[in-house]
Amino acid sequence: EQRKIGIIGLGVMGQNLALNIAEKGFGVTVFDPWEEARAAFGTSLKKEAEAELSSRIMVADSLDTFLSALPSPRVILLMVKAGEPVDELIGKLKSTLVSGDVVVDGGNSHYEDTIRRQEELQKMGALYIGLGVSGGYEGARHGPSMMAGGDPAAYALMKPVFESIAASYDGVPCCAHVGLGGAGHFVKMVHNGIEYAIMQIVAEAYMVMRDVYHLDTTWCSRVFADWNEGPFGSYLMEIASTVLSQPDDLNKSGSLVEAILDVAEQKGTGRWSVEAALKYGMPSTTISEAVFARTMASQKNQRVKASKILPGPDSKTAVVDSMSLKALRDAVFASVIVAYAQGFALIREATEQEEWGVRLSEVAKVWRSGCIVRSKLLDTIVTTFDAEPDLINLLLSDFFVGLLADYQEDWRKNARLCAEHAVATPVMSAALTYYDGYRTERSSANLLQGLRDCFGAHTYRRTDCDGIFHTEWK
Ligand code: 6PG
Repeated sequence: EQRKIGIIGLGVMGQNLALNIAEKGFGVTVFDPWEEARAAFGTSLKKEAEAELSSRIMVADSLDTFLSALPSPRVILLMVKAGEPVDELIGKLKSTLVSGDVVVDGGNSHYEDTIRRQEELQKMGALYIGLGVSGGYEGARHGPSMMAGGDPAAYALMKPVFESIAASYDGVPCCAHVGLGGAGHFVKMVHNGIEYAIMQIVAEAYMVMRDVYHLDTTWCSRVFADWNEGPFGSYLMEIASTVLSQPDDLNKSGSLVEAILDVAEQKGTGRWSVEAALKYGMPSTTISEAVFARTMASQKNQRVKASKILPGPDSKTAVVDSMSLKALRDAVFASVIVAYAQGFALIREATEQEEWGVRLSEVAKVWRSGCIVRSKLLDTIVTTFDAEPDLINLLLSDFFVGLLADYQEDWRKNARLCAEHAVATPVMSAALTYYDGYRTERSSANLLQGLRDCFGAHTYRRTDCDGIFHTEWK
């Protein structure tokens, strides 16, 4: 008999994972502290096309019933909102957990919380896995990408379930034990950071098309569809085309995107990635600029005011032809490559400092299907890290060196165009700046060090001899 899985939390992600697990032949017992949520799921199960599915799902009406329905060792998947609700639930479960029980947190929890919870549960012999789940609600139902972190023995217990419900790429499940401790949630957090960066790059490209080339929304949609067909097609490129082509049903004219308020929201995983970049000392600038771009976008009132006060160039029109769109495409692809490079470099540094044992090729494999940052590029990234597991930065691999060499002229051309026509492209600019900063043999930090020593006697080192120096600057 297949293992029975317990799920607590019947939000859309919890419901869809339950259905997915049941569909793969496993028994599922679910519980939600909120009675309405249990009732709603019970009702939707009655409608579930396959009666077989509902026969494998039991909706428990109390936590006690839920716990006693699970065979030992119990496997409990928490699908509740990250933060306080997870701690509350663990508080309730704690007294009932016994040695060998496994608790899996499938929410977007902060990796430091996951480490703390792992340590708490370890005291009673229970095992705790932080599981990053990507792919939205559709993914949860039909195949998410899953990044697990924690005790390998606990993962081994979950592996058959996870592998059968995950998305697959060429027959390989997009699911792995990526590392110890908080590695699963850390990798998912950085996934989201890259997601923020790529989304912002896509939005910047749309803005260039809209405000400089004056293309209508349908045309923009076609451009993204066209790029998606190319060698670096991606899910976000595909849905950019989808979203831009959606008609506005409310107004019965124009496209829906034009009616959407240009104020961005965020739930925090991007910001956490930036905090981690600062903590581990990594220049993850495409991610930080993407987070700040959302912050800037949310200051709508100030932008409206400033747009009437701060001057810019008069003309905002450039000729659009196949060459200019190619330059934009190359700038987009080059920037996306930098976003992945920075994300992987951040994971690499964190796993080294924390000793999680994350292998970057494993992460890239898991991201090839099911998750939001899936793209054809990840195939190449897998090959790159498989060939060079210790590669310190993707940009240093022969393939990407060659690619960026091809793209850089267009990348710079597009940056000039954006500066001239006053279109803010923070992430594409940050990506190019990172590329140039990274390939700068002699930086300007010699002057920085001089300044620090001048005003604060902070000392400096010399290029021509060892030792720490301080100068009485005149
Ligand atoms: C995923 C998504 C998912 C969620 C984001 C949204 O991988 O499926 O990343 O986790 O949609 O957290 O984040 P924001 O609301 O901050 O944009």
